[in-house]
Amino acid sequence: MATTPTNNRGTWNSKFGFILAAAGSAVGLGNIWRFPTEAASNGGAAFLFIYIICVVLIGLPVMIAELSIGRSTQKNPVGAFKALSSNKFFPLVGFWGVLCGVMILSFYTVIAGWTFSHVFVEIFTFTGLEGAANVLADFDNGFVNAAFALLFMGLTIAIIRGGVSEGIERATKLMMPLLIVILVVMAVYVMFQPGASEGLEVYLKPDFSLITGELVLAAMGQAFFSLSLGMGALITYGSYLSKKENLVEAASYVTLADVGIAFLAGLLIMPTIFLAQAQGVEIYNEAGEFLAGPALIFQILPELFVQMGGLVGLALGVSFFFLLSLAALTSTISLLEVPTSYIIDEYGVRRKKAALYVGLFVLIISLIISFNTALIDSIDFIFSVIGLPLGGLLICIFIGYFWKTRSAIDEIKQGFKDVRDSWFTTIWSIFIKFICPIIIIIILAQTLMG
Ligand code: PFF
Repeated sequence: MATTPTNNRGTWNSKFGFILAAAGSAVGLGNIWRFPTEAASNGGAAFLFIYIICVVLIGLPVMIAELSIGRSTQKNPVGAFKALSSNKFFPLVGFWGVLCGVMILSFYTVIAGWTFSHVFVEIFTFTGLEGAANVLADFDNGFVNAAFALLFMGLTIAIIRGGVSEGIERATKLMMPLLIVILVVMAVYVMFQPGASEGLEVYLKPDFSLITGELVLAAMGQAFFSLSLGMGALITYGSYLSKKENLVEAASYVTLADVGIAFLAGLLIMPTIFLAQAQGVEIYNEAGEFLAGPALIFQILPELFVQMGGLVGLALGVSFFFLLSLAALTSTISLLEVPTSYIIDEYGVRRKKAALYVGLFVLIISLIISFNTALIDSIDFIFSVIGLPLGGLLICIFIGYFWKTRSAIDEIKQGFKDVRDSWFTTIWSIFIKFICPIIIIIILAQTLMG
């Protein structure tokens, strides 16, 4: 179904193209790396269970909220808040989103660079070029980090310069199916390995006694990060969407794709961890804690691939890191699109120039991070752990008490004629006005106190 361009900002070519692009933004390192490692360190199935609740109760309503703001104004996050209210505070919320986009992209690019460099680490390891593999695998080597961050940012800028339908939509239409195929093939292969069932059990058999306050915090943070919420990415993507489309349906597909792929990634990673342990790979540190985070992805898994040896090890190793790189690229695109659309709309700069300038600006920060990787944790804490839920909270308050849910429902109605008569209107309004803000405030307060 082709959409009608309403201005020269660009539009999605089809609803399917939009869903793939938005799912591409959502599906990223957050799904294939962060979700399985959070699940592994937080009781497996218990985490999965709470995560799904957070996605349904908070993620989906906030996603619909962002899309309605974007589609209604057809503007970037700053311009959108300016267009909908004369209140001077809310454009700052949009600006906070743009800033979060810039800062998350700056460290995300470095980690994405690591995933891409590991494609070569695997090749070098299996072809006996240990020396070259060790150079690339050394995260303390700022020059290697910088080179791969540069490469990744270059690819991202090139896609964004291509525009909404010719750049973002075309690239994600190519990458997302490839990503799904690699993930499914790898998960099926790993699940049928002897010894994988222990991992599957931990992942799928919930032990509710493992649910703690900390687990709930982790699950909600993960939901915001994974669904790309709270920084206006979906305001921006929604701004290119035709009035004919049903926002509730589109948001549901994107959410389903994101959760589905995170679930699949868990089916791949959880058994893999146990396979690795069975092969004698150390999965706990000296303090007896589970080796989550970078150690799991860049140490435990490659060791397992080496132990598997031969062509199978090589194929698994290369596919795994290529999969991570693809997932990362469809997300860096959306992270760069937010500040780029801000510069295009608010300063009248042409897309090609805007993407280049913003990309180079973010790259400077990425280069600093490349030589000081310890900065990643603090930037992640401020701009994603706190920044995204805070952005989501302010978006709910804006819709609930300033723009009003009634106006948002009018926008949604354009592509969903019977929305007023459906249960959706009442439930969604209650969620946006009360339930989401209250839950987010409690969780933010707990995070800050912790
Ligand atoms: N959702 C992405 C992931 O799961 O890796 C990360 C992300 C992309 C966060 C875009 C925020 C965003 F706007």
